Order: sequence, then C-alpha cells, then structure tokens
Amino acid sequence: MKTLIYCFSATGNSLTTARLLAAGLENCSVVGLASLLEQETIPVEADAVGFVYPVYYGDMPHLMRRIISRMTFTGHPYIFSVCTRKGHHGDVAARLDTLLRQRGQHLSFSRHVPMPGNSRLSPPEKNAEMLSAQEDTVAAILQDLRAFPAEDHSPETAPQLTPVHEASNMRGMEAEDNCVGCGTCERACPMQNIRLVEGRPVIGDDCISCLTCFHWCPQEAIWMSRAEEEMQRRFKYHHPAVTLDDILALKGVRHE
Ligand SMILES: Cc1cc2nc3c(=O)[nH]c(=O)nc-3n(C[C@H](O)[C@H](O)[C@H](O)COP(=O)(O)O)c2cc1C
Repeated sequence: MKTLIYCFSATGNSLTTARLLAAGLENCSVVGLASLLEQETIPVEADAVGFVYPVYYGDMPHLMRRIISRMTFTGHPYIFSVCTRKGHHGDVAARLDTLLRQRGQHLSFSRHVPMPGNSRLSPPEKNAEMLSAQEDTVAAILQDLRAFPAEDHSPETAPQLTPVHEASNMRGMEAEDNCVGCGTCERACPMQNIRLVEGRPVIGDDCISCLTCFHWCPQEAIWMSRAEEEMQRRFKYHHPAVTLDDILALKGVRHE
C-alpha cells in the first residue's frame, strides 16, 4: 500500500502535520506541492493520496488548485484531506471535492487540525495550547483514517468566506530599506514570484498571500503595505519544529 501526501506549508503547521501523518502510515512519502509548480502534467500513482495544507479564506491555497488541476490520476486512489487552520475551515472539503471531481476523482475523508494563525494573531497561550494538542489531534485523525471510511462532503454549515480563485498580490508585499539582499524571500517563495534585481526583491503579481516571505525574512524587511495597520508589521511566526531549510526542501530548493 503506497500513500503520497501532497503538502503545502508556509510556516510549518501543515508540514509538521504531514510528517506526523506520514510517520503513522506505511510506505508514505511527503511531496511538496511547490516543487511541482513548473510541471504541466502531474502523474499521480498511489493507493492513497493525501492533501495537507493551510486554509486560506475558507479555501485551499491557490497554488494547490493550480497543481491539482494538472494532476492525472492512475485509477481511483483513496483521497483524504487534512487542513490546518486557526479559526474556521469554511467549506474547504467541499471545494476540494469539487476540484477533484473535475479530475475524475473524489474526496473520501477530511479532518481539520487547529493550529496557531500565521495571518491573524492568536494570544500566546492559545498558540501554546494548539501546538501541544497537535500530536494527539493527528493521532486521532490517523486512527480514523486507517479505517479508510467513505464520507459525505456536501458543504458543512460554514460561514461564507471569500473564495480564493486566483493568485493576486492582495496584501501588497514589499521590501523596505533594511533589506540586505540575502535572497531568502526569492528562494523561499513557493510561487517563484520574487526576483532579486540589483540586490533588491521585486515581488510580482502571482502572490497567494501565504506570507512565507514575511515570516522567514531574517531582516524582518518584508511587510504588507496594503494590509490593515495592525497586521502590516506585526508578529513573525513559524512552527517551533520547522526551519527555513525544511520550507525550502518542500519546494525542492537547498539552503545555500
Ligand atoms: C492568506 C491566509 C488566509 C488564512 N485564512 C484562514 C481562514 O480562512 N481560516 C482559518 O482558520 N485560518 C486561516 N489562516 C491561518 C492558516 O490557515 C493557519 O495558520 C495554518 O495553520 C498555517 O499553516 P502553515 O504553517 O502550514 O502555512 C489563513 C492564513 C493566511 C496566510
């Protein structure tokens, strides 16, 4: 039985969740969704396929939509979704199911792992509580998952959140004068949307607002010019068990 977990993660909540799931499943590998960005066709051959990712505005990150729409599946693997989220997951499972049906597949199982927010700030004690519950939450998911249940993914009762249909530089990521041109943002951007020009990052329009550049900039020089004031320069977050190298590895890039 071979399982592939496709993972997207900007700050490690989903990556650590994917690792915990992979450790509990036999013959399971984790593939970074960002490493597939350049592939026009993505063949998928496995008995079970998982998607582990953060919720963005009640939807999946746009990168994941783009990759799934290029996937060609061999047969009908058992497909599961485990998303990480700070607040509400919206109707992300139904949205993923709809997308998979366009590829001739469907979603069989979905769960949510509450994790610290990397967009809106949670109180530190709430973050600590969610981080310490992560292992137990994932262990419970694994227990359910191993039974390979078939579930109904018609939309759950959920608030109507803004759908993320297309990538857009909606927060206006910018670099300020204390940037030293180290290129971390260019290497880490999962969309390959940042280029150093004369030692300064130029951020393009293919931004999914994942905040990888913002959270991992060693100079704290990247900020959000179009976000509300309280969000522009506030906290940096990453999961304590995850390093920049781990995030680069998900994209298939080695830290220099
Ligand atoms: C652009 C953006 C939108 C988000 N939208 C939601 C949301 O609608 N609901 C929610 O619960 N969390 C939301 N979050 C929080 C993330 O889903 C959460 O922190 C996630 O665990 C981050 O995962 P990662 O560390 O793997 O990137 C959002 C985060 C970002 C960056």
